[in-house]
This record gives sequence, C-alpha cells and structure tokens, in this order.
Amino acid sequence: MKRIVLFASGSGSNVENIVHYFKDRKDVEVVAVYCNNSKAFVLERCKKLGITSRLFGRKEFVEDTVVVNELLHQKIDLVVLAGFLWLIPESLVKAFPNRIINIHPALLPKYGGKGMYGHFVHEAVVANKEIESGITIHYVNEHYDEGKVIFQGKCSLEPSDSAETVAQKIQRLEAEHFPRVVDEVLASI
Ligand code: GAR
Repeated sequence: MKRIVLFASGSGSNVENIVHYFKDRKDVEVVAVYCNNSKAFVLERCKKLGITSRLFGRKEFVEDTVVVNELLHQKIDLVVLAGFLWLIPESLVKAFPNRIINIHPALLPKYGGKGMYGHFVHEAVVANKEIESGITIHYVNEHYDEGKVIFQGKCSLEPSDSAETVAQKIQRLEAEHFPRVVDEVLASI
C-alpha cells in the first residue's frame, strides 16, 4: 500500500480529482489533506469527500518540524502539492527526497517563482500575448518551481483568451493529467 498526502491552499479542485481517481484503489491511500488556510474551500471539499484535513500554521511548518514529523510518523510515500502556495522548508525537502511533487499552471521555467501562482500566472501569460500555455508537474526542492520536470502538457491560446478562459483550459489539463502522473510517480517508488 502506497500512502500519499495532498497539500492545498485554495479551492481544491485538484485535491478532489486525485481523491476520486484513487478512491477504489486497494494499493494507494490518500491519507489526509494538509491545508495552511482556514478559509480555503478545499476544507469543505474534504468534508464532502470524507477525507481527513489537517490545518496547520507557519510555525508548525517552518520553525519547528511538527508537520515533517507527522508525515514521517505516518510513513507517507509521496507528498503531492495540489495548489499549495507556501515554499517548502528545507527540513521537509530533506526528509522526503524525490518524494514531493508539485503542479504549476504554466510551462516552467516560464512564469514560475515567488508570487507566480493561480490567476497571477494566467494574467501574465495573457499580458505577454503567449500563443500557448500549459501545466508542469515537477519534483520539489527548496526553491519555488525549480525541481526536475516530470511532465508538461500544453494548450494553445487565442488572442481572444482572457485570464479566466486560460484558467479554464489549465484546469482541464490538470484534471486530465495530474492524477495519472501521480499514479505513475507512485509506481516508480
Ligand atoms: C492550480 O491551477 C495549480 O496549478 C495552481 O493553483 C491552482 C489550484 O487550484 N498552483 C500554483 O499556482 C502553484 N504555484 P485548485 O485549488 O482548484 O486545485
């Protein structure tokens, strides 16, 4: 049995997709959703999905190693960042080498780094009149959006696209690929 946790900060559509994808699997368990935002809609989704949510603050995450120790204690095989917006502290990266993956809503290395998340990414893509965008699923290191790329998926953009329509295209790509790529990464460990 492979055990995964999901980290999320916002709406949680990726969390929901991943939970649905693995719900009938005997070999993979989504153990909990770790969330750093008490107002995040993902917490509502967790209630509906019947999945444990664990709300935590910066001190537990960064200053002491409460969250890291919990994950180690629970024998987690893979940490999946599904719309999680804080930088991952060195203690967590060191405890889970090549065992943390992230999804980013652009074709890294473009539109990555601190402050580049969610709609900010799509607004920048539209402002630069890009003809394509996409998603990047990558391993996580101590720097924002810099770890080794596992998968990229692209969508083409039209001059008429707005940040909202780009977001919809990205969400479709995420739904199509993220659970499957998580599954492939799990198969490799
Ligand atoms: C997703 O588009 C994800 O790629 C992005 O946040 C969104 C979360 O949506 N992540 C980042 O921007 C990380 N830098 P969700 O909460 O509905 O899954």
